[in-house]
Amino acid sequence: MKLYCVGCGPGDPELLTVRAVNLIKSAEVIFAPTAREGKPSIALSVVEKYVDKSTKTASLVFPMVKDKESLKDYWKRNAAEIAEAVRAGKKVVYLTVGDPALYSTWIYIHRQLRSDHPDIEIEVVPGVTSLFAIANKAGISLAEGDETVAIVPACYDMERVKKAAGACDTVIFLKDGRYFDSVIDMLGQAGFPDDASISVAQDISVPQSEILEQTTLAEQRGRKGPAEKYFAIMVAKKNARK
Ligand SMILES: C[S@@+](CC[C@H](N)C(=O)[O-])C[C@H]1O[C@@H](n2cnc3c(N)ncnc32)[C@H](O)[C@@H]1O
Repeated sequence: MKLYCVGCGPGDPELLTVRAVNLIKSAEVIFAPTAREGKPSIALSVVEKYVDKSTKTASLVFPMVKDKESLKDYWKRNAAEIAEAVRAGKKVVYLTVGDPALYSTWIYIHRQLRSDHPDIEIEVVPGVTSLFAIANKAGISLAEGDETVAIVPACYDMERVKKAAGACDTVIFLKDGRYFDSVIDMLGQAGFPDDASISVAQDISVPQSEILEQTTLAEQRGRKGPAEKYFAIMVAKKNARK
C-alpha cells in the first residue's frame, strides 16, 4: 500500500525525472490539485502525454485562500479519497507542479495521511522547481561564493518581504506576478542598488506561453509587468553587476 507523490517540473514535459515519467506511465489512478471545481489541473496538463488511456485521473480541489483553518476539511477529504484508492490496491500517483517540497499542496496531504492513514507508505519524487527553471533560462546563478538567498512569497506581508530582502544578496519571489510591481518599489528601500539585476518570468519553460525579461532595478521601476498572473517568478540579484 504505497502512494507516490511526483514532482512534475515547471511546465515543459521534458523536464521530469525518469522516475517521475515511469511512475506516471504505470499509474492506475492519478490525482492532481486544482484551485476550484471544473478548473483543469496545471500539473496534469504538464504530464498528459505520459498518461495511459486506461489510467483514471481525478482533480482534487484546494481553494486558493490564505486562511488555513478553512482548508482543513479539504485536506482531510482529499487525503481520504487518495487513501481509499491506495487501499483498493491501485497504483496511485499524486502530482504536483515543480518540486513537492516548495509551496506545494502536497505537504498538507502528506501530514493528513500520516495522521489519519498511517498504514499508507509514501514515496516522494523530486521535481525541477521554478527557481532553477528561471535561473537556468536567464543564465544567472542564484548564489555564488558567500552569497545568501531568500525565497519569498510576494503576496503576503510586505514588511517581512523587506526584512528578507535587506538580509540577502538574492531574493526569489514566487506566488503571484500581480504583486511584483509593489515588490520592485520595496527592493530599493531594502538596499538593492539601481543596477541590481531583475529577471521576471511567467510560465517559465511552458511551451508557447513562456515570457522572460531581464532588466535592472532602475529599468523595472515604474513600468508594468511583464508578469500579470499567478504563475510568475522574479529573481532580484543585489550584486549582479559587481
Ligand atoms: C504553489 S507554488 C508551487 C511552486 C512549485 N512547487 C515549484 O517547485 O516551483 C506556485 C508558484 O510557483 C511559481 N511557479 C511555478 N511554476 C512556475 C512557472 N512555470 N513559471 C513561473 N512561475 C512558476 C509561481 O511563483 C507560482 O505562483
